Amino acid sequence: MTEPTPPAAPGHGGSVPAQPITLRVGEHGVSATGSLYERIGGAPTFDRLVRRFYEGVQQDDVIWPMYPAEDLEGAIWRLSAFLQQYWGGPGTYSEERGHPRLRMRHGPFRITSEARERWLLHMRTAVESLQLAPLDEAELWAYLDRAAHAMTNTFD
Ligand code: HEM
Repeated sequence: MTEPTPPAAPGHGGSVPAQPITLRVGEHGVSATGSLYERIGGAPTFDRLVRRFYEGVQQDDVIWPMYPAEDLEGAIWRLSAFLQQYWGGPGTYSEERGHPRLRMRHGPFRITSEARERWLLHMRTAVESLQLAPLDEAELWAYLDRAAHAMTNTFD
């Protein structure tokens, strides 16, 4: 009879667990790790988020024309890598692209309130598809909503 491997305690070294530890908030309300990046499942979760987001964007007659249809995979990589870095994951975005300077990078696009609401609509659907713990979802959403408002650069 073998005992099931107990989950690794947060911090304080210890042996490497035989099974992957859960990165979500556990039954005692203790998360295994600190950053939201790790809590919600790391790179695969951000990739799912961004792919789902772009599924919506591709159906959108207001904002899809701004995006590089011939480089969708590149766009997916850029947004996912940026969000991973922002939320405490690896700094690959800045290694490849330099300082984010997001408002400047969005300068060439006419981001009206209508464009922003479309962007947020597709992002909302994508965030909900992840079925995150409520506090993680609220934290992620508050940032995305604020950032989208900050990116608005065309006022009619
Ligand atoms: C408010 C509505 C927004 C619109 C219409 C919009 C539109 C775009 C477009 C057309 C691109 C070029 C796609 C590409 O080639 O990568 C882009 C890039 C990008 N956007 Fe947005 N965006 C919006 C908001 C945001 C927000 C809120 C964030 C961050 C939270 C964001 C993060 C990025 C990033 C990281 C890139 C790639 C920058 C680069 O490395 O070149 N965008 N966006």
